[in-house]
Amino acid sequence: MTETKTETSAKKKGATRASRIDWALVERVLASEIVSRVYLWGRPGIGKTYCAIHAGGRGGAAYVCTLTQEMPSSELRGHWIPRGSELVWHDGPIVRAMREGALIVLNELLHGSDDALSFLHPVLERPETACLTLPTGETIRPAPGFRVIVTENRPPSELPSALRDRFDVTLEVTEPHPKALASLSPAMQEAARRSFTLEEDRSVSVRAWLVLDRLQHELGLENACLAVFGAQRGSQIFDALSLAATHGG
Ligand SMILES: Nc1ncnc2c1ncn2[C@@H]1O[C@H](COP(=O)(O)OP(=O)(O)OP(=O)(O)O)[C@@H](O)[C@H]1O
Ligand SMILES: [Mg+2]
Repeated sequence: MTETKTETSAKKKGATRASRIDWALVERVLASEIVSRVYLWGRPGIGKTYCAIHAGGRGGAAYVCTLTQEMPSSELRGHWIPRGSELVWHDGPIVRAMREGALIVLNELLHGSDDALSFLHPVLERPETACLTLPTGETIRPAPGFRVIVTENRPPSELPSALRDRFDVTLEVTEPHPKALASLSPAMQEAARRSFTLEEDRSVSVRAWLVLDRLQHELGLENACLAVFGAQRGSQIFDALSLAATHGG
């Protein structure tokens, strides 16, 4: 295979190409003023929602919604509610976030109904063009600071192309957030890290490790493994942890 001039000169300068996105890069992107529409995806239980809320909100308010097939767009946009003999308009979380210039985290976008996904088209437009006319007749534009972070387990290629095109960045994370691992007891950190290198159907989410870590103090490690992972997988994990403890000293 022939090398291009750019590749050769990059090699001479000792440059390396980043082959994966780590959490430090995700947090730098989320801190950027330029980026306001983010698609963050990866395996379950690795810290996507946690990071979106904590790093993406930049200390301000964060609204969080999890989309389902049954959720109509009115739950995101807002609806009329009866008060006495009148109907009063009630803003939904997206409209509130737009008015306040706040963050909205949307979990599981691909589970959303067609109605909810269509509603998101204008919301995900760049700030200069994003605007919504509400059933009240009022047209709102996003206040400065409004941003949307979607968290998903599935890749952006599964989105309809018009929706996919509206994200400034699509970030795939492939390992648990280091602070999530650090919150485990030292004996469990290495096992949790290693479990993540297994195929997807055998890997164990940080959530499960966190529960196991806490539950072992009440039930003992073996019973906690059985309760969290079931009899067969639980005894394998108990054996692996016991073996690691023996070898570790
Ligand atoms: N940065 C962090 N610091 C401390 N704990 C964390 C951190 N990130 C994640 N966790 C812990 O890991 C758990 C799982 O994280 P989170 O819910 O963000 O995963 P997720 O990637 O959104 O999973 P899913 O795809 O299933 O929604 C959290 O409830 C939290 O207890
Ligand atoms: Mg999540």
